[in-house]
Amino acid sequence: MISNHYDWVPGGPPPLIKRHSEVKHSLLRSYLVDYFLTLVSSPAQDRIKLTIVDGFCGGGCYVNGAGERVPGSPLVILNAMREAQAKVMDLQQRRKEIHFDVELVCIDESADAIAYLRGELDAQGYGHALHSGSVKLHCGTFAKLAPQIVQRATERSPRSGRAIFVLDQYGYKAVPQSALALIFRTLPSAEVILTFNVDALINYLSPGTLSAFERRTGFTGAVTAADLDRGTRGPGWRHHIQSSLYSTITGSSGADFFTPFFIRPERGHGDFWLLHLSKHWKARDVMAQAHWQHHNHFGHYGPPGLDMLRTGYAAVINRESSPQATFQFDDVARAASTDAMLAQIPRKLAARPNGIPFGEFFLSHINSTPATMKMVEASVLELVRAKEIQVVDTVGAIRSVRTSLRPNHIIRLPSQKSFAFI
Ligand SMILES: C[S@@+](CC[C@H](N)C(=O)[O-])C[C@H]1O[C@@H](n2cnc3c(N)ncnc32)[C@H](O)[C@@H]1O
Repeated sequence: MISNHYDWVPGGPPPLIKRHSEVKHSLLRSYLVDYFLTLVSSPAQDRIKLTIVDGFCGGGCYVNGAGERVPGSPLVILNAMREAQAKVMDLQQRRKEIHFDVELVCIDESADAIAYLRGELDAQGYGHALHSGSVKLHCGTFAKLAPQIVQRATERSPRSGRAIFVLDQYGYKAVPQSALALIFRTLPSAEVILTFNVDALINYLSPGTLSAFERRTGFTGAVTAADLDRGTRGPGWRHHIQSSLYSTITGSSGADFFTPFFIRPERGHGDFWLLHLSKHWKARDVMAQAHWQHHNHFGHYGPPGLDMLRTGYAAVINRESSPQATFQFDDVARAASTDAMLAQIPRKLAARPNGIPFGEFFLSHINSTPATMKMVEASVLELVRAKEIQVVDTVGAIRSVRTSLRPNHIIRLPSQKSFAFI
């Protein structure tokens, strides 16, 4: 039983928000604001169209430790849209309004949560949005409603298929593989932000419960009964299971880009992942930036630099068989990432004597680094200034590049250094 359930009782006071939910909300807000700013990159644009699905929406309101009312995820999303609109107007010094043509679809299996949310939306001035249908409320389970919601998002944006799914389940079994695969197969610009309570799952799994989990979720083959056998499991079994589950979930989702970071909630409730899955590298990069902004609460296990997932998620353990100190997305982690990249990049380029376009180099490491494109670019430029790396154009002429790289700039070791690492 997972002990972090919330109850919304119509007419009653809102539930007390848990710290980890506040953390998720601030990440969601900052990610969405950056997402909109990235989408509206040109002042000539006057409209963007997408669907946002809050698949486990809750009642839309909490009270915090100081007794103040704070918004739940549907309101966090609507407020982020307002904030982004104001920022776009300001940053681009626009005269022309930008119209966010967004349909927000809220789903919850609890009729009470939906009723609470309806009241909250009305109270917060979003009654007109309910009336016009730009906010839609559905009572039911996400897995059952997913096909009709994906269909609706496709009808709204047949070409771009632009949609964000916020799937904040309590545990680990309410978002099956089939729903993720449907989203990514149907919607070319879809993104999913998925809560997955990995420690609760590992505590629940046993040789006897494994097949029920697999049948329910479709995440098959990640874990074997032998992995779970108390008599035979080795010291790193927990991390081995995390690593294998992570690969199965991301690999079978149909997404191409991922962030595998986790939140460690208060009082030892166990780590859960906040996985971001997408079809576009830029979305992944914007999410990685958001993690760096919220460094106090997010982490990942493993080394800094370009190869954090070289041995699989969380597979790096020390001699005492406990996880390495977690990577905290803070200044220490930033410095460690830079140091690691300054050593790793020349080694990797040694295997490419003809060089590699910077864009291709970055994409070949994106799913296994906590660094953003800007951070990798900064490390490459530092190596260029130190004459450890050359930048050449497509015909091999050396380019004097100091401050920014283009994706088609070819980076390579200077010819006399090509053999230094072999
Ligand atoms: C963690 S709470 C959601 C909190 C909300 N996303 C927020 O951040 O304010 C999870 C919600 O999911 C609902 N729920 C549980 N199982 C569900 C399912 N299979 N489909 C849809 N909703 C579900 C619960 O009723 C609960 O309101």
